[in-house]
Amino acid sequence: MTAAEEFAPAKINLTLHVTGQRADGYHLLDSLVVFADIGDRLWLIPAAQMALDVGGRFADGVPRDNRNLVWRAAELSGQSLRIRLEKNLPHGAGIGGGSSDAAAVLRFCGAPEHAPSLGADVPVCLSPLPQRMQGIGEELAPVAVPPCHLLLVNPGVDLPTPEVFKALEQREHAGMGPLPRWPSAAEFTAWLAAQRNDLESAACRLAPVIGAVLAQLGDAPVARMSGSGATCFGLYENADLARAAARRISAAKPGWWVQPAAILSGALPAAG
Ligand code: C5P
Repeated sequence: MTAAEEFAPAKINLTLHVTGQRADGYHLLDSLVVFADIGDRLWLIPAAQMALDVGGRFADGVPRDNRNLVWRAAELSGQSLRIRLEKNLPHGAGIGGGSSDAAAVLRFCGAPEHAPSLGADVPVCLSPLPQRMQGIGEELAPVAVPPCHLLLVNPGVDLPTPEVFKALEQREHAGMGPLPRWPSAAEFTAWLAAQRNDLESAACRLAPVIGAVLAQLGDAPVARMSGSGATCFGLYENADLARAAARRISAAKPGWWVQPAAILSGALPAAG
């Protein structure tokens, strides 16, 4: 095995319906998941001893030992690696940073079978293309989604996933039903606007700033929280509109992470 660079894209739940709860406490979901052309980067080199070095805008507070999912992914795969992780995505943010990093290590090690034991969101991240995710994250089906322009906005609060699930007032909602075909972006947008993220109201109670993020994205045809938050996305008709909204929100809220992105629908962006 030789050294390689891996891209770990941001995961976005365009919809997230909570359809029930299992006896072990995990929630059953029905979610349309896509991946963005922005994300973390990893450099992986087989080595005599495990080592993890973390850099990038969101390096602060990221564990450098076996508390980090990338370390555990390598160990489970039976590999000893020197890993450099460039953390470009906010963590505890509902866009799957840690899960996508772990999936990137499993791809490098050729050990996808370990994904479920690393976390409910890791299996979907193994193949960063649009998918419908059901069960607790293990039932996956590819979905064709028209090209979309997103704006991702995170207000800088770290929201632990278990707390958001715990704060749910209702644990059984309708799923998405059969997915239609979307011949155009306009039809996709209209369908998406009628869907939900069932974690949004619980997350807004825990972190009211999420309501302010959604208000800032109010000019988008669809504005919604991703995962358990606090990152929200706006869906725009074209890249210019997404960039204009990014400029406006960055000027109004200089401390927020504001990032235009396109959805990955084919091969991962080339490394480098
Ligand atoms: O699997 P993972 O460690 O990422 O999940 C973190 C926590 O989020 C779980 O312990 C559980 O409290 C909650 N969760 C859930 N249902 C899911 C996924 C996560 O209740 N489908």
